[in-house]
Amino acid sequence: MRKISLHDASIGLSDITSEVETNLMGPIRMVQAFLPHLKQMKSAAILNVTSGLALVPFPIAPIYGATKSGLRSYTKSLRVQLKNTTIKVFELIAPAAKTPLNDEFRNLDGYNVKQMDPVELVDTALKGMAKDKHEIYPGIARILFFMSRIAPGFMLKQLSKAGAKEMAG
Ligand SMILES: NC(=O)c1ccc[n+]([C@@H]2O[C@H](COP(=O)([O-])OP(=O)(O)OC[C@H]3O[C@@H](n4cnc5c(N)ncnc54)[C@H](OP(=O)(O)O)[C@@H]3O)[C@@H](O)[C@H]2O)c1
Repeated sequence: MRKISLHDASIGLSDITSEVETNLMGPIRMVQAFLPHLKQMKSAAILNVTSGLALVPFPIAPIYGATKSGLRSYTKSLRVQLKNTTIKVFELIAPAAKTPLNDEFRNLDGYNVKQMDPVELVDTALKGMAKDKHEIYPGIARILFFMSRIAPGFMLKQLSKAGAKEMAG
């Protein structure tokens, strides 16, 4: 998850898309490589980790949100295509969590997001999988889901506050 000002002309074309490579193409390639093996199992599961930022863009990390929205779309298609197999497809719509991923954002001007304990987050994910919940929304991700439906413009405005100065060009 990278903080990127799209005004920054020094960012090269392969650099700007590096998150797509890791966050979107990585999981797609991995699933494709494992599918033949998983299909031979009595039961199997794929858990793709997206983000609340798949639901509402976080403009200071513009590529990250795009990769997570893409992964969410792909995961829904994967679930449909695997419906007649023994493979279950889960999506963990993770909220902000206390991990190094947020180091760059924690002290950003206008950033005011409660970060979940990663142990609690993983625990919720495992419980969700045990209950066959295809889409798992720990902590504030559930609220973000409803708010992104009810008031998408308002939510985008809220998430646009972090790094507003840097994004102003
Ligand atoms: N933390 C949050 O607030 C949050 C919120 C929503 C979703 N998520 C998602 O949760 C997942 C885990 O994130 P995290 O918070 O645990 O992040 P993190 O603490 O930054 O850890 C990221 C992990 O990804 C590995 N990684 C990064 N680039 C890689 C690459 N090019 N190839 C292979 N491995 C690579 C890192 O490996 P090294 O340690 O070897 O560098 C590290 O183990 C991610 O999919 C993230 O998008 C996190």
